[in-house]
Amino acid sequence: MKDLFERIIKDKGPLGNWAEQAEGYFVFPKLEGEISNRMYFNGKKVLTWSINDYLGLANHPEVKKADADAAAEYGMAYPMGARMMSGHTAFHEQLENECAEFINKEAAYLVNFGYQGMVSAIDALVSKNDVIVYDVDTHACIIDGVRLHAGKRFVYKHNDVESLEKNINRAVRIAEKTGGGILVISEGVFGMRGEQGKLKEIAELKKKYNFRLLVDDAHGFGTLGEGGRGTGFEQGVQDDIDVYFATFAKSMAGIGAFFAGDKDIVQYLQYNMRSQMFAKSLPITMVIGALKRLDMIRTMPELKDKLWENVNALQNGLKDKGFDIGATNTCVTPVYLRGEIPEAMAMVQDLRENHGIFCSIVVYPVIPRGLIILRLIPTATHTLEDVEETIIAFSAIREKLESGEYKKIGATMV
Ligand SMILES: Cc1ncc(COP(=O)(O)O)c(C=O)c1O
Repeated sequence: MKDLFERIIKDKGPLGNWAEQAEGYFVFPKLEGEISNRMYFNGKKVLTWSINDYLGLANHPEVKKADADAAAEYGMAYPMGARMMSGHTAFHEQLENECAEFINKEAAYLVNFGYQGMVSAIDALVSKNDVIVYDVDTHACIIDGVRLHAGKRFVYKHNDVESLEKNINRAVRIAEKTGGGILVISEGVFGMRGEQGKLKEIAELKKKYNFRLLVDDAHGFGTLGEGGRGTGFEQGVQDDIDVYFATFAKSMAGIGAFFAGDKDIVQYLQYNMRSQMFAKSLPITMVIGALKRLDMIRTMPELKDKLWENVNALQNGLKDKGFDIGATNTCVTPVYLRGEIPEAMAMVQDLRENHGIFCSIVVYPVIPRGLIILRLIPTATHTLEDVEETIIAFSAIREKLESGEYKKIGATMV
């Protein structure tokens, strides 16, 4: 028999095994200074494209004041306990009502973190007789929720409606035997590649099959649809989303998340989501801060307009220079390049050190070997000069990548 830690120390996992070369730089980097388009990395000012502060609320003076005032009045402990026991307040209720109203659902329920909320909502929504059908590219929180499911699950090819229908048919055959139902799960916006989920087509399938639809709209809330009401509004199918989810971690620049839907279903979630029944509720300060942010999203459409001005300038500029940005139709802007991990590391180092640009880098095992994604998240705090500077830098690094220069440098880094 082995000591449990023997394996862990030898094999730190697909990302952990890179810790020595990557930590502090490629992973766990410290971005310092005020949250904005220009922050500090290793003491140097960098143009930052890796923060999901889509609407620029994170460092907005009105938001900071609302947070500070709430913290001065309530601190960070209040309320104590889980919502169901002693952690419920009028502010929680108000935020739920306002979230639901904003996205045109009957009711909403707050959760402390989107990730744990999603895991637990999936767990609560399905029994062992039910069948889950989900997109292969969904976020880790959905995958983990599906892992808890004791019944059958089918995964469909990313955003492939034919594959979805085939798997719904499989699900129907199972559900008819078990007497269960079907839950289809998609994202509103796929956060890595920036494609909207095909919600319209999925909604169309509802006319033919009996299933319920859960949509994770983490990146769509605040950025898409009328007034930032999300991907369901963008595609005109909000009513077909049975359970809507959005996090406060992106456009709302906070912490927490919510699920929304029909009253009965939301009430069921309130009474059955283990991650909320057995965990402390969202601090009131965060809730008051979220109310302020939601109010700003509702009343300041110029924030979303500025975001989209930057998104369009960046995406069109990159396309004009021949960059492959895939099929994004949202703010998320992936730039697809080809190369191995050491080359990617050398390229990103060049981008940061010599061009002063900080963006996220995605490589194998998150995406197939040989592919590199430089992922840019435009925000309302960026300027058109930032966009121009970035396109010039990207053209320069692409030239070096294609000339094989990074291959040589990268070989010395690993
Ligand atoms: C698509 C998606 N779903 C869920 C989450 C988890 O949300 P949270 O950060 O609130 O835990 C994230 C990340 O924030 C996400 O990108």
